[in-house]
Amino acid sequence: MKFLKLLLVLFFIQTQAQQGGMWIPSLLKGMNETEMKNLGMKISAEEIYSVNHSSLKDAVPQFDGGCTAEVISDKGLILTNHHCGFDAIQNHSTVEHDYLRDGFWAYKMEDELTNPNMVVMFVVRIEDVTTKVLEGTATITSEAEKQKKIQENIASLSTTLPKETWQENKIRTFYDGNQYLLFVTETFKDIRFVGAPPSSIGKFGSDTDNWVWPRHTGDFSLFRIYADKNNHPAVYSADNVPYKPKKFLPINISGLKENDFTMVMGYPGRTTEYLPSFAVNQIVETLNPAKIEVRDAALKVQDRFMRKDQAIKIQYASKYAGVANYWKKWMGETKGLKKANAVAAKQKFEKDFQEKVIKAGKQAEYGNLLSDFEKNYNEIKDYALARDYFTEVALRNTEILSVGYKLYQLEQLLNTKGEQSFNDRKNTLYKGIDDFYKDYNLEVDKNVFEQLINLYATKSPKQFLPETLLNVDASKLTADIFTNSKLTSLTSFRELLDGDSKTVIEKLNNDKGYQLIKSMADAYAKNVLPKYDEINLKNIATQRTYMKAILELSPKSSRIFPDANSTLRITYGKVKGYKPNDAVYYEPFTTLDGVMEKYIPGDYEFDVPQKLIDLYKAKDYGNYGVKGKMPVCFIATNHTTGGNSGSPALDANGNLIGLNFDRVWEGTMSDIYYSPDICRNIMVDVRYVLFIIDKFAGAKNIINELKIIQPANKK
Ligand code: ARG
Ligand code: ASP
Repeated sequence: MKFLKLLLVLFFIQTQAQQGGMWIPSLLKGMNETEMKNLGMKISAEEIYSVNHSSLKDAVPQFDGGCTAEVISDKGLILTNHHCGFDAIQNHSTVEHDYLRDGFWAYKMEDELTNPNMVVMFVVRIEDVTTKVLEGTATITSEAEKQKKIQENIASLSTTLPKETWQENKIRTFYDGNQYLLFVTETFKDIRFVGAPPSSIGKFGSDTDNWVWPRHTGDFSLFRIYADKNNHPAVYSADNVPYKPKKFLPINISGLKENDFTMVMGYPGRTTEYLPSFAVNQIVETLNPAKIEVRDAALKVQDRFMRKDQAIKIQYASKYAGVANYWKKWMGETKGLKKANAVAAKQKFEKDFQEKVIKAGKQAEYGNLLSDFEKNYNEIKDYALARDYFTEVALRNTEILSVGYKLYQLEQLLNTKGEQSFNDRKNTLYKGIDDFYKDYNLEVDKNVFEQLINLYATKSPKQFLPETLLNVDASKLTADIFTNSKLTSLTSFRELLDGDSKTVIEKLNNDKGYQLIKSMADAYAKNVLPKYDEINLKNIATQRTYMKAILELSPKSSRIFPDANSTLRITYGKVKGYKPNDAVYYEPFTTLDGVMEKYIPGDYEFDVPQKLIDLYKAKDYGNYGVKGKMPVCFIATNHTTGGNSGSPALDANGNLIGLNFDRVWEGTMSDIYYSPDICRNIMVDVRYVLFIIDKFAGAKNIINELKIIQPANKK
């Protein structure tokens, strides 16, 4: 009996531990497949990824480079998040036709809107090409030379490895350079906007609720893939036809219960789960706080203007959301890493690692890795901080500086590549820059500039600053630049670009704004970048060997997954609530009741459309409600990150049950340190999505395209 109890306890620990990780869909057979079935999965690994038959991967493309989508009809209809379609929705919006505010629905295909630069990419197959990529590199001792050779091999393999003419070969590294996989892909370029709810549904709760559970956001939008007559990718043409997918997802509207199996397939962007303690400490103590402070200042200014002017609100909505998103994430991450004692946990791991190295007699190979890390991370600290300040202040958050930086690159191009390249770039800039100024407001940027340049001059490591910023008077500098620089409007920007290279360079160097960004960029390029790159290269090499050692010295059964790298992955777990704090437990499901609890009439973030209130009052939920309640969001232990937004949440049979869009506040540290106790992904319930399309928007045309599995008792 005692023995049985012990077995049960052991089993429990096992199933608890079997969570986390972002796995490669072509490599699930074996450990993952068994684990997934133990957790409740009913389909096989072959049904998730297969080269010869249609499988789930054929229904899950990457959406526009940074998100995920899923195909949900045989006419190329795809579903992704509202925040993933946000840029496109914003682009189609004006004060008169404000699709951000009011939503948009194409009630027939002719009404769908084109999106010139949008792309959707499918994975056709995945192959291991490690040996080919590493060919001829074993004997190279200089790290820079080795990387160069690898890049050359990748470039040549990408062109020589077999593929169809309309496909691409993409080679990506896994386990920090210990494995290379080839992805043969197809990228569709005619993607049309089909529908989105108003922001008061699709972005309900906005930045206050972002990264937070309990959540009540209907974060979805719809697009359609168009292809040429052969069903191959093609740029927009009126002759293109809806794409016929190899596979689309049936929709399960029966809902799940706590502890049911779920999995999420998608394109997670970047995680760093195997960083040493020294690096994590630097993130927590130095880098995150600095970045947070810069964004905090920029956001406060933008928010002030957006609240009082609808035109500015439209201009800055997408930029604000992007900046606010990681600002808030870094805060949650820092807090979570501290609370979980991640640095101490890493130190413990490192102590064990050292012991394993000794036990295996591998001191010569692996004995110095941790002391090398310690030395490198100490040495890189100021450079890394200066790099973050430069990126955040100049490239990301002060618009006049970021646009000035493009001109700085133009001048560099003339110096390095000559007249022809200069003219080509100049013409592209001249044409393309109206997109930037369309959403530019001088007053907003001026106020941001003053705050941020002051932070840069006072907080970024002094030893690297350009002379122009030593003891600078920020408000005087701001007034000077914003009265005199030509970077502040489309017309004057274009004036700067008029003329031959000599004239342009002369004009640029006489411009106050240009002079400032040039002095900043020059100082950065001279004082920070070379040293940063040098130490970083050492860290990359050390990390690769460290990863190799971890793989080699861990027991066979260890669940060591490769960090996210924007390639197709699958993560799995269970629907589950969690305990964020002492005496508090969060249940895993939310309903429309919660939307109404949060409702603040006319509020910037928590308004609710009248139509939704009416449906709520009438409990008019159709087939999508359960016992008089309308499900809205749910959470599970799936290990996701940025890029997983829009990913399908699937049930045990591989049917669509929801749409991933976020993580919970207490678990945002999962990019660096995943804990199954507290890390949860947030999904919008597919029943809420269908309810909004059907009952709220009355878009029966969309509902009729879908394959909805009717619950047995409702048939
Ligand atoms: N936090 C989610 C993700 O990282 C959602 C972001 C969009 N929403 C927002 N309020 N900014 O993408
Ligand atoms: N919201 C994220 C995304 O856009 C997902 C996440 O970071 O959890 O990909």
